[in-house]
Amino acid sequence: MRTPAEVTVVEVGPRDGLQNEAKAVPLAAKRALIEALDQAGCPRIEVGSFVSPRWVPQMADTGALAQSLPLLRATTSVLVPNAKGLEAALATDVPEIAVFAAASETFSQKNTRCSRDEAAARLVPVIRQAKAEGRFVRVYVSCVVACPYEGPVAPAAVARLAEKLMAAGGDEVSLGDTIGRATPRDTQAVIDAVALAVPLSQIAWHGHDTYGQALANVLAALDRGVTVIDAAVAGLGGCPFAPGAAGNLATEDLVYMLDGLGVRTDIDLDRLAAAGQKICQTLERSPTGRVALALERQSVFRHA
Ligand code: HMG
Ligand code: MG
Repeated sequence: MRTPAEVTVVEVGPRDGLQNEAKAVPLAAKRALIEALDQAGCPRIEVGSFVSPRWVPQMADTGALAQSLPLLRATTSVLVPNAKGLEAALATDVPEIAVFAAASETFSQKNTRCSRDEAAARLVPVIRQAKAEGRFVRVYVSCVVACPYEGPVAPAAVARLAEKLMAAGGDEVSLGDTIGRATPRDTQAVIDAVALAVPLSQIAWHGHDTYGQALANVLAALDRGVTVIDAAVAGLGGCPFAPGAAGNLATEDLVYMLDGLGVRTDIDLDRLAAAGQKICQTLERSPTGRVALALERQSVFRHA
């Protein structure tokens, strides 16, 4: 198995993690989470999204949140679905803008209320404008292995969409296993298809952990040469429009595995786990990742 010397972890907990939580999270708690993730050494943090507050009320304060952040070491990003979202993002200093489209038709309709082709067409000018304004642009392609409504998705369909949006000026494409259905061969098949059109250095992997395959899929992605991996602290989240999907791969699980493999991330696992525990207290729930739970048990024993 091939592993790189270094992996860049993209922490998506404050956006992908919190967008799916029913309990309202105060702005101060979101800011504290982002600061704690920054202090743990997370190099890139997606802090929120400028989407319809009617559809995703949890993200309604992203503008105020982005403006309230102190100077961070991490590079921050925000997610936008259209020109209106971009306008709000450009009013902030956030250096990275992420756009999203789905490789499956029905998920596109449910998530963004338009067809796959319409979503791609409306994102092309958004990407161009974000680039013209000097922002780094991340392109998410969702449902890269399976759609919650249609089942399996062909790697060629993912590659076509990724190529189109990257040709508009995207700097990076993050391949989303939105419902966590992939197994390692699926992961490699879709990476191989996309890599025919996009350099590997611009491909990231974004796996939800519904079926417990997320870490195995990361290994499969690393073996193919991918070195940018998305994860959410405490395994938070999911997509409100992907029924049954669990949270992202827990960042604690990812960092523990990469530490063990001698792959550098610059993230301090104990500080990261403390950030996860704190937001879980606010949410009145437990972390879902195995490493966070193991560390919690260890600390109970230590203090008993
Ligand atoms: P729509 O209803 O078709 O939009 O929604 P519209 O253009 O017809 O506008 C309707 C209303 O929404 C208008 O307001 C607009 O101003 C407003 P009204 O006149 O009725 O008061 N509006 C907006 N408000 C704030 N920000 C905006 C915005 N755009 C329009 N950007 C839309 C279309 C895409 C906006 C809507 O469906 C939406 O917001 N969807 C959000 C979906 C979402 O956030 N999903 C989760 C993130 S994606 C994800 O989790 C997957 C990912 O993690 C990767 C993976 O796991 O695969 C990235
Ligand atoms: Mg996601």
